[in-house]
Amino acid sequence: MSEPLTIVRHPLVQHKLTLMRDRTTSTAVFRQLLRECAQLLAYEATRDLELVDEAVETPMGATVAPRLAGRKLALVSILRAGNGLLDGILELIPSARVGFVGLYRDEATLEPVQYYFKVPAEMGERVVIVVDPMLATGNSSAAAVDLLKQAGARNIRFLCLLAAPEGVERMRRAHPDVPIITAAEDERLNDKGYIVPGLGDAGDRMYGTK
Ligand code: URA
Repeated sequence: MSEPLTIVRHPLVQHKLTLMRDRTTSTAVFRQLLRECAQLLAYEATRDLELVDEAVETPMGATVAPRLAGRKLALVSILRAGNGLLDGILELIPSARVGFVGLYRDEATLEPVQYYFKVPAEMGERVVIVVDPMLATGNSSAAAVDLLKQAGARNIRFLCLLAAPEGVERMRRAHPDVPIITAAEDERLNDKGYIVPGLGDAGDRMYGTK
C-alpha cells in the first residue's frame, strides 16, 4: 500500500461506525457491527495483494485466471480488543494464519506491558495485518509492530476502526513503513488516553465488561 493513512469513507462503514459510537448500542449489536466493519476495512487493506495467473478448467473449457500469490497472509490481533476484528476478516480470508500479541496498558504511564506473544512461522514471507479497533496513544501499536519486526515481519499494515491524531503521529514516527487503514481519525485523546469523541472502551463495549 502506498498511502501512509487510508480513511475508508465508504457510506456503509461510516454508518456502522456511527451506530457503534452510540452509547445505547447493545453489546451484541456492537460486536456484530465491528465484525462487519472489519470486513469492509480488510477489503481496503488487501487491495494491493499480489496475484498470480493460474491455469483453471471451467465447465466451459480451459482458461488462465488470477489467484492470491505467495504465503498465506498473517493476521495479528492485539489482545483483547483486536479479537473483535478477527472473525470478520477470517470469514473473508479463511486461510489466513493468526497471531496474538498481548499488551496491556499501564494506566499510570499509558505505556504497553507485554504478557503474550505467539505468531505464525515465516513472518518475513507474509503480508501481516495487525488489528486493533482503537489506535489511541499508539504506544501499544508501535510496541506490537516492534515485536513483529523482531519476529521477521517486513510487510506490515495496521487496521483499526478509529484513530487519534496522536496515535497516527506516533506510528508514523516509529514505523513510517506501516500503512494505517481506519474508518475515521477523531479529534484527540483525553487525559486518560481515550479517543474523543470515540466510542468508549472498545473491549468493554464488545464483551460487556462494564
Ligand atoms: N482504547 C479504547 O478501547 N478506547 C479508546 O478510546 C482508547 C483506547
